[in-house]
Amino acid sequence: MTKTQQHAFSSIKYTRTRSVAVSPDVMRERRLVMGLRNDPHADVFRLLRTQVLKQLRENNWTSLAVVAPTAECGKTFVTANLAIALAMEVNQTVLVVDADLRNPQVAWYYGLDIEKGLLDYLQTDVPVEDLLVNPGFERLVVLPGKHTTSVSSELLSLPKMTALVEELKNRYQSRIVLFDLPPLLSSDDALLFMPHFDAALLVVENGKSSPEEVQRSLAILGETNLAGTVLNKVNGAVFPRYRYGLGVKNA
Ligand SMILES: Nc1ncnc2c1ncn2[C@@H]1O[C@H](COP(=O)(O)OP(=O)(O)OP(=O)(O)O)[C@@H](O)[C@H]1O
Ligand SMILES: [Mg+2]
Repeated sequence: MTKTQQHAFSSIKYTRTRSVAVSPDVMRERRLVMGLRNDPHADVFRLLRTQVLKQLRENNWTSLAVVAPTAECGKTFVTANLAIALAMEVNQTVLVVDADLRNPQVAWYYGLDIEKGLLDYLQTDVPVEDLLVNPGFERLVVLPGKHTTSVSSELLSLPKMTALVEELKNRYQSRIVLFDLPPLLSSDDALLFMPHFDAALLVVENGKSSPEEVQRSLAILGETNLAGTVLNKVNGAVFPRYRYGLGVKNA
């Protein structure tokens, strides 16, 4: 990072971006394992971070969408924890954009009590700087969602959204942008949003996501680069067909 960029980042962090630290109790309750000291499950996210960073660096990718076939597979859980793990690496900053306008939950994971979110930006004139929040972890900034909408695909494909994403991706060097998106099989949001991200991380739920759902999801992703697949809700075991296995049962 150059001095100017460092200055730009500190100014956004300390002057405009609200900083709200999440308490350990909230982290435990919401399975924000990466934020807890010595949580045994955090190692899985460190491993995932290493694998993801390798993919990003080798391919010069900076933006990653976290996707899943259906609801409740753990997209937001993975996004929130992976973002902290990535931000712990000192040489980059991380921005999490809650682009799941149908069920925005990123703020909940970080225990953030927010008044406005991405939808307000898209529908009114709220400046984006007023929406950014630092959830108490160095180098991590969140653009939360607040209200829900059923017309989310229309909004995500607005020129205003396109301009925002470009700005967020390009404003700082060494920044990774993670997008939390609605399930692939329940709307065309991810499909319409695809031009905005470099690669996808597919989260599938152990014992729930069927091979057919995974196939259909891969078909929707089409030519999109796949940074990896996370088999979520496994306890300990890593299913060999998949790149990563996450078991965080008792967190
Ligand atoms: N590895 C895990 N171990 C235990 N519980 C988990 C794990 N991953 C997610 N969960 C729990 O499963 C539920 C669904 O997770 P999450 O909210 O991340 O799903 P989602 O894919 O974002 O769903 P939606 O599409 O509805 O937004 C949450 O209660 C979460 O705490
Ligand atoms: Mg979610």
